[in-house]
Amino acid sequence: MTGYDTLSDLLASRYSCRAFKPGPVPRDTIEKIVTAAGRVPSWCNAQPWQVTVTDKPETDRFREALFAHAAANSSQPDLDWPKQYTGLYQDRRRTCGWQLYEAVGVEKGDRAASAAQMMENFRLFGAPHVAIITSEADLGTYGVMDCGGFIAAFCLAAQSLNVATIPQAAVAGHGRFVHDWFGIPDTRLVLAAISFGLADADHPANAFRTERAPLPEILDWRG
Ligand SMILES: Cc1cc2nc3c(=O)[nH]c(=O)nc-3n(C[C@H](O)[C@H](O)[C@H](O)COP(=O)(O)O)c2cc1C
Repeated sequence: MTGYDTLSDLLASRYSCRAFKPGPVPRDTIEKIVTAAGRVPSWCNAQPWQVTVTDKPETDRFREALFAHAAANSSQPDLDWPKQYTGLYQDRRRTCGWQLYEAVGVEKGDRAASAAQMMENFRLFGAPHVAIITSEADLGTYGVMDCGGFIAAFCLAAQSLNVATIPQAAVAGHGRFVHDWFGIPDTRLVLAAISFGLADADHPANAFRTERAPLPEILDWRG
C-alpha cells in the first residue's frame, strides 16, 4: 500500500456526518487531531488558525443557546456569504441538497421539513463537541485560505482516528453570536464550526455520499 493509496482511502472514507452518537471523544484524541491539522502550510508560516473546542457540557449549553438565537435572528457572518450559485455550482449545490433530503425523507417542495432539517445545523447534529475555527482578521483573504487547509486537514486527521466531522458555515453565519458567546475578539474572524464525534452510522442523514466532478471539469492541461 503506497502513501497515495492510504491518503486516497482516507479522503474517500471521510464524509460530512449529520448525526452523531452522544458519547465524547477523549481529549488526547482531540489534541492529536488539532496537532496534525496544524501541519498544513500557511503563507509565511503565519498559522492564522485558532480553535475553540467544547466538551460535552459546554457543547450542550452552546447548542441550546445557538438554536434559540438562530430561530429568532437573521444571520450576521464575519465573512460575506457567496454572492450566488449559478450554472455548475448551482447544479452541484442542488444535487447534494436533494441527496440529503431524499435520505431523511423530505419531499421536494416541503419547505417546513427542509427548514427543520436545516435547523439541525444549530443543534450541531447532536455532536458531543464543536470546534470554532477563527483566523486573524489582519491576514485577510490569505489567512482565510490558510484556515481552509486547516479545516480540511482537521477533518482528515479526525477520520484517520475514526472521528466523524462536519464543517459548518451555518454556525459561522451567526458569527456575532459566536463571538459574544465565547468571548472571541473582533480581531479574529469566525470562519466555520466543525461539529465532531462518533458517527451514528445507522442514521438516514449519514446514508448518502456526495459526488465529485470528473477530472476534465477541474483539470486544465497546457502542453
Ligand atoms: C467550509 C464548509 C462549510 C460547510 N457548511 C455546511 C453547513 O453549514 N451545513 C451542512 O450541512 N454542511 C456544510 N458543509 C458540508 C458540505 O455540504 C459538504 O462538504 C459537501 O456537500 C461535500 O460532501 P462531503 O463532505 O460529505 O464529502 C460545509 C463544508 C465546508 C467545507
